[in-house]
Amino acid sequence: MSSIEELVAGWDGEALVSHYDRDSGTFMFIGIHSTRLGPACGGTRIRVYPTPADAVHDVLRLAEGMTLKCAAAGLPTGGGKAVLAVPEVPAGTAKRELLLRYGRLIARLRGTYRTGPDMNTTSADMDVLGEVTEFAFGRSPDNGGAGTSAPDTAVGVQHGIRASCEHAFGSADLTGRTVLVQGAGGVGRVLVDLLVRDGAKVLVADIDPQRVVELEHRYGVVPVDAADVVGTDCDVYAPCAVGSVLSAASIPRLRCPVVAGAANAQLAEPDDAERLRAAGILYAPDFVINSGGALHLIGIELLGWSEATLRARVAAIGPTLLEIYRHADAEARTTEAAAEAIARARLTGADRPAVSTGLSRSDRYLAPARSPDR
Ligand code: NAI
Ligand code: PHE
Repeated sequence: MSSIEELVAGWDGEALVSHYDRDSGTFMFIGIHSTRLGPACGGTRIRVYPTPADAVHDVLRLAEGMTLKCAAAGLPTGGGKAVLAVPEVPAGTAKRELLLRYGRLIARLRGTYRTGPDMNTTSADMDVLGEVTEFAFGRSPDNGGAGTSAPDTAVGVQHGIRASCEHAFGSADLTGRTVLVQGAGGVGRVLVDLLVRDGAKVLVADIDPQRVVELEHRYGVVPVDAADVVGTDCDVYAPCAVGSVLSAASIPRLRCPVVAGAANAQLAEPDDAERLRAAGILYAPDFVINSGGALHLIGIELLGWSEATLRARVAAIGPTLLEIYRHADAEARTTEAAAEAIARARLTGADRPAVSTGLSRSDRYLAPARSPDR
């Protein structure tokens, strides 16, 4: 792992906020990658990392992913991410107190960074943050928030899988297609339900066997050992658990023509996009196919979308992917590069203040930074 100095020096984002929480031994890092299109938005991940440098590596790449995600989805928001690198994942009072201290750090950023749920954080945790800062998406509906984003992330992935099958096999019909869902959590569970309704044959793997057993009983899905995901034959592999699953080691062993799933940062390194292309595997760029959660949180809470608008925007993930695949084919480049080009065009073309893109009056002081541009 590179040093923190090397990681920060090699990053093109705007700011890395860091704070050491002495009470819990937690390093808090907030990566503000871009405010070019609006306030930097992205979830808070609580995780045990081998070293603080690993946490910084994670927050920097995830924050960039959020910039690309929001831009590609046409949202008037920038990209950021936060990680709380804990000695052990807290629960109960310890978690609540950690979140309250972290929430005060977010409050001090006065809206430049707006958080939401991510790994090991939930709507209930956003309710706790909401006690000390207004800048937390995804509070429970009882507390005025948009609630969990996982179901809309799953719906977006369903649209993305259909579009990917249309491109790869000439039909978006999932009847009889074999889809392997890795991770039966908030997103994976809902995705399984949607795929079963679409007539797909669904395979499921999770490191928590109980989660697989539940789905087996409920839907008759085929269980796959979590260690066997990479070598398992399927039409579509849908990573919905951890990142970095597509690597120099895993790609040659994949037995699927399509990878299309919800996990953030699926490529272990940038060259993996080319490795997938060379292997003839169609890859749905993660920051496009998993944008349903961001559309849900930002669309409902910041932009005041109706249910109909939200449905239409989540469904548009399918056509967006088809456009990306057409560009990638025509220009003989990776789907990741084609998707990044669309996002970066939006970033460089965005030169109007945030008020014209739907943010409320109170957001005026958050007009996007003119510089640095990206
Ligand atoms: P979750 O924490 O509810 O579920 C993750 C599931 O993956 C758990 O059941 C866990 O046991 C399982 N898992 C962990 N490591 C595994 C492994 N090596 N093999 C198989 N299963 C494993 O998380 P959630 O919300 O379902 O998110 C899934 C992924 O999608 C994450 O990468 C997340 O960052 C990403 N994502 C989630 C969004 C959301 O709205 N929840 C939005 C965009 C991306
Ligand atoms: N963490 C989720 C994601 O990666 C949801 C989220 C989106 C959280 C936007 C905050 C802001 O997309």
